[in-house]
Formats: sequence, structure tokens, C-alpha cells
Amino acid sequence: MNQIDMDKIVAHCKNTGFIFPGSEIYGGLANSWDYGPLGIELKNNIKKLWWEKFIQNRINSFGIDCAILMNPKVWEASGHVASFSDPLIDCKECKSRFRADNLISSYSNNNVNPDLLSKDEMYKYILENKIPCPVCKKSNFTPIREFNLLFQTHRGVTKESQQDIYLRPETAQGQYVNFLNVQRTMRAKLPFGIGQIGKAFRNEITPGNFTFRQIEFEQMEYQFFCREGEDEKYYKEFKQISKDFFVSLGIPEDKLKFHDHDKLAFYAKAACDLYYKFPFGWDEVNGIHNRTNYDLTRHQQYSGKNLQYLDPVTNEKFIPYVIENSYGLDRAILAVICNSYDVETLPDGDTREIMHILPKLAPYKVAILPLVKKDLSEKALQLYSSISQKFRTVYDDTGSIGKRYRRQDQIGTPLCITIDYDTLNDNSVTVRDRDSMKQIRLNIDTLEDYINKIVK
Ligand code: GAP
Repeated sequence: MNQIDMDKIVAHCKNTGFIFPGSEIYGGLANSWDYGPLGIELKNNIKKLWWEKFIQNRINSFGIDCAILMNPKVWEASGHVASFSDPLIDCKECKSRFRADNLISSYSNNNVNPDLLSKDEMYKYILENKIPCPVCKKSNFTPIREFNLLFQTHRGVTKESQQDIYLRPETAQGQYVNFLNVQRTMRAKLPFGIGQIGKAFRNEITPGNFTFRQIEFEQMEYQFFCREGEDEKYYKEFKQISKDFFVSLGIPEDKLKFHDHDKLAFYAKAACDLYYKFPFGWDEVNGIHNRTNYDLTRHQQYSGKNLQYLDPVTNEKFIPYVIENSYGLDRAILAVICNSYDVETLPDGDTREIMHILPKLAPYKVAILPLVKKDLSEKALQLYSSISQKFRTVYDDTGSIGKRYRRQDQIGTPLCITIDYDTLNDNSVTVRDRDSMKQIRLNIDTLEDYINKIVK
């Protein structure tokens, strides 16, 4: 594989309809991106896979879909109002803004862990080492300020009656506040899990590395409720589950590693992130946290409602522990895109852009291509209308067949089906494989089984 940089990936995503800059015609909005026709297909395929794995195929597992706007007390109880912040620092020379912890990590090549430093210690380190501004290379920074990432909005008709509310910065609190609703209605017994997929919002003001850091993004979060004493076993299990999930997206294991947190929140027993090797370096795609019984205890305190679980066998009442398994959907998509995009040199010296996306994730599974538009489009459209009922299919009759194959390689379509003059006589078509470029001849009647085999 050639060395691919982020600029190339961003341009490819824009030019092929995967991801566009948010509100582009107005000059964009920092750290916001829109998924195009192919991006949304890839996104939906990953969501579907996650939902099947976590909600449908796991015993004692339940899905929910909560409101983005929640009672503001939720965010007081969760601790987000008081302390969900980034340590920001400004370059006095060029006015660029950075996260102080990121400045230190990249300056020290990850040899210094800023998580272990206080705000004052981080500032001292930056001054003593004269860390240069990544933009203008001078070293003249303001002191560090904590910047809260919550997006605030208001509800109410008049100014006086307005109440400050927040766009949720994570989906997890929806699972916590509905813990008893789900447990009672589903008659769930510990251990059990509640998951949801949905938007989250954070006022990220430092540069985002494409879709890696956005102000609006999607999470796929799974909260696993269990007894104290079983928590460590399940924490380990969910570490493996996280890795397996990314491997199931086609990510090789050597591009994944765990980063255990050195500094834990006071309530947490263990926490780690799963990192993927992006072109810009290793970074987080997933988090696994042993949150003890902190979240439910806090919601019990702040709401005044009893959130204890009643053990049906022992009649014991207690607040369960939570193992959290949190996936950033956009980061999973970005990892799949970075991992699958390549520019290959062919035996004749020519090059082709290709996305080696797993067939089950590819936006289109099949392309239907009439060799000659004039005489063969009727037969090709007939085939399109039957195949597209079963598989996401694209029809293309413009340009030479070679160019059309290249277009499908570029967007990761695993199979191209070409209709030629022989098709009219013997009902057979040419099926071309994206990765090997090998072609075989198949009867139309056998296509569905063949595509199914490749795609599933
Ligand atoms: N409920 C726990 C939680 O939200 P987190 O580590 O802050 O934990 C979980 O976020 C995941 O959400 C991360 O691993 C990452 O994949 C994704 N994520 C977080 N902030 C993001 C952002 N600004 N843009 C895109 N994805 C983000």
C-alpha cells in the first residue's frame, strides 16, 4: 500500500460523494461535515452491524432511542456542567488555539502524559520547554483556560421564563436515566445491557483532523449493568469485544492498540481507549470504562428517585455497576475509509484509486454496466430493476467500460456486472471482482446466489 495522507483522503471523500464540508457554500463551519450519498450508505451499514452485534444478537440486551434534549439536572448529576472541559491555550502571536494536553503529547512524542499533570504543571512544561506554536513556530502562549464543551440552548417563550438546557454531549445518560424503565418493562435480570445510537454535540474548537473531532457526531454506546464483583470480568470481556468489532469492520489487529488511562476519574475502577493507527497518528476510536455504581447513584441523589435493583432471588436491593463500551460512529467510519483507501500501481504502470471496503460495508454491492448503451441498456435496466430489489445497486452507462470499472473501484463496489451482446443470446454476464480484477462469466439466474456469497 502506498503512503496515503489525510489531504488525499479528504479530497477523495469529497470528490466521490462520501463526505462533504458542512454548509460548504457559505464557507463551511469548523469541525462540521455532511455525509453524502455514499457516506450515508457506509454509515448505515456500520450502524446496522453494531445494532445486530450488540442489541439483536446478545442475550439480555435492549435498544433505546432517547431525546437529545434532556432535563438540565441530568448534566449536573453527571458532572458535565461542572467539569466537562478542555484545557485551552492561545498563541499570542498568530492567535491560533490549541488543547494544551495535545501540544505536550505531540511535542514530547507521547513521552510525557499530560493526563498526569495539573493545569499549572502543563503550563510550566510548555514554558520551560519553549514549545513552539504548531502554526507560526513562535513560543508565546497565554495561560491555560478550562473551556466547557457543553452546547447550551434555551427553552421557553419569554426571556424571563427561559431555561438553559444542553444538547447532549454523550448518549450514555439516556441509558442511565431509563435504567429502571427498561429493567421493569423488559423484566430484565442482571447482568443486562442497554444500547443506543445517536447524535452527540460538543463545542470542540480546536482543529478536528477531518471527521475525527466534530462538534456534532454520532455515538454507539452500550451500558452493561452488572453486580459488583463481576465488573472486572466484564470489563476485560468488553475490551476484547471492542477490538473484535473493529476487526469485523476489516481493520487489521496491528492497526489497533489499547491505551490504558493512567489517571482515572475518582469514581472509576478502570478505563482504557482503543486506538487506531490513522494517517495522522494513533488515536482513540472507542472507550471502555468501569464506572462502578457512580452514575446511577448520582442520578438517584439528584432526582430523588430510588434507582436500586431488587434481586428477585435474594431480595437484596442495590445499585448495579456499569461497564461502558462507547463507540464513535464517525471515527469508525473514518478508520474504515483510511484503512481501505489505496492508490495501486498496476502491472502496466498505470494506477488505480481503490477502496478495499469489506463487501458487507460497501455503499454499493453491485454495479450494472451495459457494454454499449444504445443496444444493451434495455436488458441492463431489466437486470438493474431485479438486482436492486435485493442489493444496493448502481447503474452506469456513461464512458468506456474501463473508466466505469475505475469509477466503481474508487468507491469500493465489490462487483461489476457487464451486459454485452452475448447476454442477449445466452443470458450470461461478465462479473468482475474489484480487488483481483478477475472476470468470470455467469448465468443471470445464478447471480443472486453469487452476490449473496460475496456480500455476506
Ligand atoms: N459516554 C462516554 C463518552 O462519551 P468519550 O471518550 O468522551 O466517552 C466516546 O467519547 C467516543 O465518542 C470516543 O471514543 C470517540 O470515538 C467519540 N467521540 C468523542 N468526541 C468526539 C468528537 N468530538 N467527534 C467525533 N467523535 C467523538
